[in-house]
Amino acid sequence: MRDLFGRDIDYMRISITDRCNLRCKYCMPDDLPLIKHDDVLRYEETLRICRAAVKSGIKNIKVTGGEPLARKGCVGFLRDLKSIPGIEHVTLTTNGILLAPYIDKMNEIGLDGVNISLDTLNPDKYRQLTGGGDFFAVWASLTKAVEAGLRVKVNCVAIIGQNDDEIADIAKLAEQMPVDVRFIEFMPTGVDTGFEGLPGDDILSRVREVYPDLSGDPTRRGFGPARYFKSEKMRGSIGLIDAIGDCFCPGCNRVRLTSEGFLKLCLFHEDGLDLREMLRAGANDGEIEAAFKAAVTHKPERHAFAGSGHGIKNMSRIGG
Ligand code: GTP
Ligand code: 5AD
Ligand code: SF4
Repeated sequence: MRDLFGRDIDYMRISITDRCNLRCKYCMPDDLPLIKHDDVLRYEETLRICRAAVKSGIKNIKVTGGEPLARKGCVGFLRDLKSIPGIEHVTLTTNGILLAPYIDKMNEIGLDGVNISLDTLNPDKYRQLTGGGDFFAVWASLTKAVEAGLRVKVNCVAIIGQNDDEIADIAKLAEQMPVDVRFIEFMPTGVDTGFEGLPGDDILSRVREVYPDLSGDPTRRGFGPARYFKSEKMRGSIGLIDAIGDCFCPGCNRVRLTSEGFLKLCLFHEDGLDLREMLRAGANDGEIEAAFKAAVTHKPERHAFAGSGHGIKNMSRIGG
């Protein structure tokens, strides 16, 4: 369905939990209060919203967290999503720590792709950046997912003084295996990290130092805001998600559903609709669908990172 700015909204990101087994420095403050279990939508409630969403034009679903695999029953939920008529693609974004044992099952249910966050290839730095994470667990998941033939993307948030010296090495993963390595410009959050993101142009220059033939590739990979680039040497590709440098809001195709059942219309803005309240007050399917459609129509035009002085609070709850 189209919003007031003529954008076709067909993609919904669903955060199924605010819990995470990591504490990435730029994402999750130590003192963030956890959402009460009763306030989190039950899977059946989320599935009901998804059925209404499909009737409103949503075709592709991304499941996120916190860390989605930290919630019990995540893979069963992915299977249930896959079986909703009208849903074309279901993908998962995960930190990869808990992924390896679920990979065969994910293949079996026909999961359309998995995005694995990996900001560094240095195990010590990984532990430090993620508040104790085990790099080797992620590496095992990544290699297993690739071997199993799952469609894999790697997400790397590029931060000056943290991992900007590793851009070329991380990019080489796209030569070593058939993965799309996406570099993400750091978006300011409510967490006071002192971190400064590496701008997209600098990211590309560093990749070009090792792949001088890197050039834009219009082939579509997934439904996100990344722009893709390829070198002859690569089996996969390089992606760039530069929300700050290249505002992609005019082409935005998405809304978000938080684990509390709030339909969030833009990553940056608070505007949205409390679907949990509607569900629990006994709204019928038609009413949910109508409310969903009305809300989506009023999706804000764009983010306001520049100028507003504030960033995205609660990134870990929104799921990126
Ligand atoms: P696919 O390519 O279809 O797998 O989707 P994706 O790239 O949107 O998914 P992923 O969950 O891997 O997100 C990658 C990065 O893009 C994260 O840092 C997100 O915060 C960011 N991102 C996703 N959607 C938006 C958006 O609407 N606005 C902004 N500014 N950033 C977004
Ligand atoms: N800026 C950019 N990307 C972020 N992510 C988390 N916080 C930020 C931020 N402030 C990324 C994670 C993960 C994806 C879901 O969002 O690294 O790959
Ligand atoms: Fe967890 Fe992802 Fe946030 Fe890291 S970025 S703390 S993995 S939710």
